[in-house]
Parts: sequence; C-alpha cells; structure tokens
Amino acid sequence: MYFFGFCVIFLGTFTLKINGQRPPAISNISHEQIKEIGGTAELYCSVQYAQEYPVLWIKYDHLKSQEVLPISSGSALIIRDSRLALRYDTASSTYTLQIKDIQETDAGVYECQIILSKSNKISAKVELHIGRKPIIHDNSTKSIIVSEGQPVQMECFADGYPSPKISWRRQNNEILPTGGSIYRGQILKITAIRKEDGGTYYCVAENGVGRSAKRAIEVHVESAPEIIVSNSSLSQALQYDMHLQCHIIAYPPPAVVWLKDGQQLPYDGPHYRISHFSTEDNTLDTILRVMKIEKQHFGKYVCKATNNHGSSEATIELSESTNPVCPPACGN
Ligand SMILES: *[C@@H]1O[C@H](CO)[C@@H](O)[C@H](O)[C@H]1NC(C)=O
Ligand SMILES: *[C@@H]1O[C@H](CO)[C@@H](O)[C@H](O)[C@H]1NC(C)=O
Ligand SMILES: *[C@@H]1O[C@H](CO)[C@@H](O)[C@H](O)[C@H]1NC(C)=O
Repeated sequence: MYFFGFCVIFLGTFTLKINGQRPPAISNISHEQIKEIGGTAELYCSVQYAQEYPVLWIKYDHLKSQEVLPISSGSALIIRDSRLALRYDTASSTYTLQIKDIQETDAGVYECQIILSKSNKISAKVELHIGRKPIIHDNSTKSIIVSEGQPVQMECFADGYPSPKISWRRQNNEILPTGGSIYRGQILKITAIRKEDGGTYYCVAENGVGRSAKRAIEVHVESAPEIIVSNSSLSQALQYDMHLQCHIIAYPPPAVVWLKDGQQLPYDGPHYRISHFSTEDNTLDTILRVMKIEKQHFGKYVCKATNNHGSSEATIELSESTNPVCPPACGN
C-alpha cells in the first residue's frame, strides 16, 4: 500500500524502423521499492524486440546524482558483488536484478536501458528506497492522571520511512471515547473524560516496513468512589457464615472500612474478616465475612470508601433466616 506506482518510462525522441522490424521497447519495469537494511530487492525489466541490442542495468547514485554505475549487460553482471545476481528469463525477455543483504548505499535510482546506438537509447527507471521501521518518540504521551470530566489530549509521534501512520486502540478493543475501536491520527482528544474511559490505550505506528511500533498509555481517571452492591438484603441462619460484598469504582485507590452501628469492624477478628480484591486499577471488591453468626451480628452493615476526591458508602442488611442460605453455608 506504500507503493505509489512510481514508474517513469522515457522513450527516445525518435521513431525506429529497421528493415521492417518492430521497434524495441521496455514493456514492464518494477514499481518503486522500499526495503529494510538486510532485505532483498528484485528489480525486473521486461523488453520487447531487443534481441539485437545490449540491455543494461545501471545505477544513479542518490547523493552524487550525476554519477552512473553500470551493473549488468545482458545476462552478465559487470560489477563483482556477491550480493548481486542477474536472472534472464527468455520466455518473457525479463532481466531481473536481485540485490541481497541491502545496504544504505544501495538506495538510489536504477535504470534499465536498451542501447540502440551511440546516441540513442530507450530507458526506464525504478527507485530503491531504504525503509526504516517505525519508532515512537519519547515525547509521546506516557501516562495520564486526570479528574473525571476534564479534557484529555494524548499525543503520539513516530519516525520511520515511509512516514508511519498512527492509530489508537484500547485494550481488548474496547470502544474509544471518540467512537469505534480505532482512531487514526497523531492526537487523540477527549472533551470530557468519564470513569469508563480509563484503562490502557495503545498508540500504534505502522509503515509497512518491519514490525509496527506500539506504546501502551495508562489513563487513570480520578473520581470520588462509587459503590455498587448487588444484594443489599441478605439473610442467614444462626451459627453459619455470610459474605457481604461491595464493588467499588474509584481512583486513586480508596481506603475502605466496614462499620456496624457506627463502629469500625476489625480486619481480622473472631467473627469478622475483611478482604479486598482489585481486578482493574480503578475497581475494588471488598468482602466482609461474618463467621459463626450470633444474634448480635444481625443488623445493618456499612461499607465506606474514601479517597481525596470524596467518600461514599452503602448499606447491607443481614437478617436471620430459619434455614441456612447457600452459598456460602453449604461449602465444606
Ligand atoms: C509486469 O511484471 C509483473 C511481474 O512480473 C507482473 O505482475 C505484471 O503483471 C506485469 N505488468 C504488465 C503490464 O505486463
Ligand atoms: C518529538 O520528538 C521528535 C524527535 O526528537 C521531534 O522530531 C519532534 O519534533 C517532536 N515533536 C514534538 C511535537 O515535540
Ligand atoms: C439476596 O440474598 C438473599 C438472602 O441471602 C436471597 O434470598 C436473594 O435471592 C438474593 N437476591 C439476589 C438478587 O441475589
């Protein structure tokens, strides 16, 4: 997709008609090539009605644009270089110049020529570029910490040849705040970031040469805690255990406590055990295990989460049931 169909054919300013023969011509030549250092390029040149004429591959030096290096004549190489090979296919009258282990100095314009006379020739050119795989610059965005509702701008700058195309994605192909799962462009703008926009973003630079470059950008959206309780009304029989759970969304990570009747519960006691599980960097599940329930353990429990953006709490009521509730009662 990065080949732009560069293929210029210069025809001499003459008409040729020798003894009723058809005039020689170059019927086909390679398109522009972009190859990495160490790669292999094959440049082909197909000719017609040129049996009686020398067919050459020559090279113009990129830097010293006037300098010309003859490479091959007919099916023979003129210069000795183990990286070069020439193939002639009789059926299609095609001269293919192969360049292996490409070096920086191989870049330039290669010309296929049919020499008609001292002053006349037919020629066509193909350019060989040295491609450089994409590199993402250090001045690209590395990570972001931003408050909910604020605007956000993420930037990604990359180098390479051809110039890399930049695109943005999210982890697991989640929908981007700009809509869709991919955004093309160096700068990704979000007008007002939401909590659900937080997570890992990827900037990807591709140019068709070598592997694409990728950078992960962590976006932390700061907000006051939000608590989700899936069941706020639980019951259990005496002497059994019950688990009370609050799901908290907050960044920075909040301090979490459980309360009963205004008293903070211990993390690890004869009847209570508190544990936290974090799945993503802005979510936390807190579980209060009430063990070997006695009468005084029934009532209202509060989970409370606090960070520098605010505080939030949720209530779960535990009441007595005549029969054990499974789970968790039935386990071992
Ligand atoms: C030129 O040669 C290439 C490679 O051999 C071939 O794929 C292409 O079809 C040819 N084009 C024409 C116009 O003959
Ligand atoms: C980023 O860094 C590259 C390489 O150092 C530089 O060419 C480019 O101008 C910089 N871009 C910005 C916007 O600073
Ligand atoms: C909530 O828990 C109670 C008792 O533990 C149970 O009977 C009820 O089905 C649960 N509700 C939901 C929505 O899970």
